[in-house]
Amino acid sequence: MSKKIVILFDLLEAPPPDQNYRDYEKDSVWDNEVSVKRALQRLGHEVVLIGVFNDITRLITELNEIKPDLIFNMVESFNNNRNLEPQVVGVFELLGIPFTGTRSLGLGICKDKALSKKILSHHRIRIPRWVVSHRSRPLRKIHDIKFPAFVKASHTEGSEGISKESFVESESDAIARAAFLHEKYESNVIIEEFIEGRELYMSVLGDKRLQCFPMREIVFQNFPEDEPKFATYKSKWDEKYRKKWGIRNEFARNLEKDVIKRAENMCKKAFAVLHLHAYARFDLRLNEQGELYMLEANPNPSITDYDDFAASGRKADIEYDELIAKLIDLAY
Ligand SMILES: Nc1ncnc2c1ncn2[C@@H]1O[C@H](COP(=O)(O)OP(=O)(O)O)[C@@H](O)[C@H]1O
Ligand SMILES: [Mg+2]
Repeated sequence: MSKKIVILFDLLEAPPPDQNYRDYEKDSVWDNEVSVKRALQRLGHEVVLIGVFNDITRLITELNEIKPDLIFNMVESFNNNRNLEPQVVGVFELLGIPFTGTRSLGLGICKDKALSKKILSHHRIRIPRWVVSHRSRPLRKIHDIKFPAFVKASHTEGSEGISKESFVESESDAIARAAFLHEKYESNVIIEEFIEGRELYMSVLGDKRLQCFPMREIVFQNFPEDEPKFATYKSKWDEKYRKKWGIRNEFARNLEKDVIKRAENMCKKAFAVLHLHAYARFDLRLNEQGELYMLEANPNPSITDYDDFAASGRKADIEYDELIAKLIDLAY
């Protein structure tokens, strides 16, 4: 049945008065929204694009006027603040409008990597051993974790703040990097053991019954053998840099059945205990001993038609439009 669907996304400035985005399709930063919009139209739905910056009253007025059957939620921040993403979803919940993806509780849990780690470890899901340096009380000594370690802000995403300096081999370097991140991102910082190994991405779809798709992997083909390999901001987003160093996301090859099974079980369990809903992507590492570690959970991952989630879905025989249709069904 045809529905009236609002695709809602965040902007870094006030939306145009008429919410007209005629020119946006040309710019690749909108690929995610454009992919979804086209799929929804192919599925026969009426689509309205709404951007939100920092005016929640305006958003509520617009939603009350449009009266959508559903919100396709692509909001990642409010007032340029990523921490407020769950609160925007809370507004949909208060208005009683069905929406795609994870609810405000699950988004809130995953926004705080330290909190989600506590929940994961409580449920015996293997994660790197870690400590938090609080912004108000930065760590001066680091106990209980082995070096090399990895230092990251607790609230950033998409490898923001991840560079060569995130990999540290001593306590003093870890503390210095943490101080830099406290300052730059005004956030707490996680210092955790560095997990040497392959980096795998597991896409999961569903609600009570979950489906895991074939895993993707980031490979660093032309990287010097002895350099630690991990997804820095550049290695994720800078196409030239990726080309130069042979960095690619591809389907993970030659994984033993047992590893796949363990990864699937781990991700399904994490999906449930983190209160995720409809779709999520998990970042995992597999070390030489065959141990799997969960680095983080990503609720509402990028759903662009060429990205990892959609590629994995296709490999599991779920074409893009069908995937979008499933996300709509899962909203109810
Ligand atoms: N403990 C770790 N060991 C090895 N690499 C790590 C570790 N933590 C993070 N990384 C690397 O940094 C990248 C980004 O970290 P992640 O926790 O996934 O944050 P983000 O939300 O920015 O994606 C990962 O994809 C991985 O390559
Ligand atoms: Mg990640």
